[in-house]
Amino acid sequence: MRKVIIDCDPGIDDALAITLAIKSQKLDILGLTICSGNVPAEIGAKNASRVLEICEDANIPVYIGEETPLVRKLITAQDTHGEDGLGEAYDMNYDSNRIKKGGVQFIIDTLKNNNDISIIALGPLTNIAMALRQNKEVFNNLNSFVSMGGAFRIHGNCSPVAEFNYWVDPDAANEVYQNLPTKIHMVGLDVTRKIVLTPNIIELMHRIDTKMAKFVEDITRFYIDFHWEYEKIIGCVINDPLAVAYFLDPSLCQTIESYVQVVTTGEAIGQSMVDSGNFYRKPSNAVIAVDVDSKRFMKTFLNTLFPHDEIEVEAYL
Ligand code: BDR
Ligand code: CA
Repeated sequence: MRKVIIDCDPGIDDALAITLAIKSQKLDILGLTICSGNVPAEIGAKNASRVLEICEDANIPVYIGEETPLVRKLITAQDTHGEDGLGEAYDMNYDSNRIKKGGVQFIIDTLKNNNDISIIALGPLTNIAMALRQNKEVFNNLNSFVSMGGAFRIHGNCSPVAEFNYWVDPDAANEVYQNLPTKIHMVGLDVTRKIVLTPNIIELMHRIDTKMAKFVEDITRFYIDFHWEYEKIIGCVINDPLAVAYFLDPSLCQTIESYVQVVTTGEAIGQSMVDSGNFYRKPSNAVIAVDVDSKRFMKTFLNTLFPHDEIEVEAYL
């Protein structure tokens, strides 16, 4: 069992990523730390708690972290994820007792007391940047760091060049790229855009496990409508679960190593500049996912959330 902290902003695809992480039974999830992103952190914490309820997990604590980006004003994605951040399903049974404050301190303390912690970051990097500002030393204990964010050879989803997580808090993203002692595994839109949950797959889910399928369907319906309206896709792109799957099995993605910095001002704000041509002559600080075996991802995702014996899921992907 690898020990992880999942830093996130739930968020529909964050919810699916947390579910994948728990159901994989391969991770010892020490805590979920929440930042503002898709929704304000307080709403995100309730959503995280709701997901833990669905997964019937009684032990994982939820910590609210930073409520605003380092410099920019918070811009949420409630148009994409719904006012409640979970597709306006308003199915809100959750245990408020597991929600605590002090996300940044939790990250620092956990790293201080262990030397085998990894972080999977599924939202803006505000909590991580804050923790680095307050105690850079403890990050020497960090095992590995995966960040869903950025875009390399593909267009952004907030501007022609910027992906949402880095665009919401570009200052935090850049600080993390410049200061983390270990290389960041950047799982960006180049690969996550290839992960599409289609109605066919949702129908298949229903046939296997109605309760879990109902949760997935309830939270993704709004998201699917958004995708049709803005992108003319039937289905929805689920970014964050790929970061978890990649952490569990890096062979899912092809990668390159390079120096990355994040643009913090001007028109290109939030862009992840991947110096694959080595113009800056700086040592690489990132491992960037450039391609993915999307069918293998979806197979793993389905087999993990919807364990079954005799169904060959391949035919539906
Ligand atoms: C990222 O932005 C958020 O809306 C998603 O949860 C994901 O983390 C994709 O750009
Ligand atoms: Ca997210």
